[in-house]
Amino acid sequence: MHNENLLLDVQNLRTCFQTDQGEVAAVDGVDFKINKGEVVAVVGESGCGKSVTAFSILKLVSRPGKVTGGKVLFEGKDLAQFSDQAMQKLRGNDISMIFQEPLTSLNPVYTVGYQISEVILLHQKLTQKEAREKAVDMLKKVNIPRADKVVDSFPHELSGGMRQRVMIAMALSCNPKLLIADEPTTALDVTIQAQILELMKGLRNDFNTAIMMITHDLGVVAEMADRVIVMYAGKVVEEGDVFTLFKDPKHPYTKGLMKSIPKIHELKVELESIRGTVPTPSNMPKGCRFHPRCPLAAEKCVEQPPKLLELKPEYFVSCWLHDGGEVNLDDELAKRAASFTGYGAEKIL
Ligand SMILES: Nc1ncnc2c1ncn2[C@@H]1O[C@H](COP(=O)(O)OP(=O)(O)O)[C@@H](O)[C@H]1O
Ligand SMILES: [Mg+2]
Repeated sequence: MHNENLLLDVQNLRTCFQTDQGEVAAVDGVDFKINKGEVVAVVGESGCGKSVTAFSILKLVSRPGKVTGGKVLFEGKDLAQFSDQAMQKLRGNDISMIFQEPLTSLNPVYTVGYQISEVILLHQKLTQKEAREKAVDMLKKVNIPRADKVVDSFPHELSGGMRQRVMIAMALSCNPKLLIADEPTTALDVTIQAQILELMKGLRNDFNTAIMMITHDLGVVAEMADRVIVMYAGKVVEEGDVFTLFKDPKHPYTKGLMKSIPKIHELKVELESIRGTVPTPSNMPKGCRFHPRCPLAAEKCVEQPPKLLELKPEYFVSCWLHDGGEVNLDDELAKRAASFTGYGAEKIL
């Protein structure tokens, strides 16, 4: 079925790194779509392949990494066919990005005002002077003090937090069709973080910009996202609308992630976490990659990798538990606890 709203279509994406142990896949068969104007959050613990996915989409994976399979379609066009030059143009226009490490993306030899103005002039018919005024305006919007002075600064003259805000101002200046933000506000303090999230929401509302938002902050997800993609060990394990996913997660990993939200409203800050750690690409478990950490793992999970199945319309999960239809995780856990108590499962779910 043709979907006119479809903006980004990632199909079976695979990205490998050449290591001492040979070629390993950090992203291993990832599928998802982003519609125009949609905010999609990508969550998962550190090392699950979120950043590598973003870099792969933008064709910014550098050696020893390489996209080795799959397709990325933007507005129906296969990005593999784009020259470096065409990609660069796309990244400055239709797709904009904000990364954790801002210094790499700002040009050290130009003032920040010049760099933001350039972006603005590409998109709007303005004079140099008007573009500069707009640049100051954008700097004010990301809460940079003395914006009329900072506009003439070079990147190295600014603090890391300021550079990050300049990057955000720049990314938002070109009214992109897609904004890819990789933990954009992690290093910023909460007040500024909230303002930047507001700016991003404004961008979506005013220009129908779609946002792919990589974050480990589930509070941000709940507030911003329409849809959530949960990644684990280089794969998508669950994907669906934010309401269902928060209220009734289907993958034991997602449920574990939800449990690790600190409950600040309770007297003590409780941070339960899923036992164990994310496997590295060179050491992926057989079967379901989550099985060594899963309180509900069965024999089949140890042997065979589950497929990402559409459990109900627009809702996907990759877990053998739901193979014969949707089940309730709490019920399954209760059953498991009644028959077998060796797993310490109650700690996780
Ligand atoms: N340049 C690299 N060389 C080798 N392995 C890498 C490289 N970059 C990332 N990886 C590996 O790819 C996996 C996914 O990393 P990443 O996408 O950064 O995770 P996330 O963003 O979810 O925290 C990790 O195991 C990481 O160690
Ligand atoms: Mg990352």
